[in-house]
Amino acid sequence: MSASKISVAKKAINQIEKKFTKDMVLGIGTGSTVNFFIEELSSYKNHFYGAVSSSEASSKLLREKGIDVFSLNDVNEVTYYIDGADEVSPDNELIKGGGGAHTREKIVAASSKEFICIVDKSKLVNQLGAFPLPLEVIPESRSMVARKIVALGGTPEYRSGFITDQGNEIIDVKGLEIPDPEALEIYLNNIPGVIDNGIFAFNKPSIVLVGD
Ligand code: 5RP
Repeated sequence: MSASKISVAKKAINQIEKKFTKDMVLGIGTGSTVNFFIEELSSYKNHFYGAVSSSEASSKLLREKGIDVFSLNDVNEVTYYIDGADEVSPDNELIKGGGGAHTREKIVAASSKEFICIVDKSKLVNQLGAFPLPLEVIPESRSMVARKIVALGGTPEYRSGFITDQGNEIIDVKGLEIPDPEALEIYLNNIPGVIDNGIFAFNKPSIVLVGD
């Protein structure tokens, strides 16, 4: 598994290395695959301006590797957003948020000119839904949101002991079939208290690279 993640991290570098410019800002996702990418990226730290990151964990690693990290509010443009995924559909729709960072990931993805998703083969599925779908929720809304999920036919599970970088909680939803990712993404985000869910149908990657 690690070998596959390292191989796709290198593929992502190959994809962008010739396009680096001194003023380019990269968007960086979260997770073990992205950690390998950051490792590879560190050799190129003087070839681009810096990064916007989707989590405190990635920001820490980027800084340790000597890459400047900026707030999204302070940059004009993010050229490439590079991130992993928990599931990838044949149409490049994703489930993300296994690491609980999907809200900021979606914000940075939406801010970028191009989203490059990096995964190992195990993430490719015919239909989204086997991986528990994460919802970031305002803590006070947790029980109410869970009841709405049960009514929808899903099984909500509170991610015990986990607080997001924004200070919220995560409900992982099992047992949902997702034949129409766009419709479910909209529906879930309309439940009061849900900050964002882990379906990336509107902000899906233009490129999915798969590890060997
Ligand atoms: C974090 C994510 C990650 O991209 C996803 O969980 C994949 O992680 P990994 O690369 O460790 O398999 O969405 O919120």
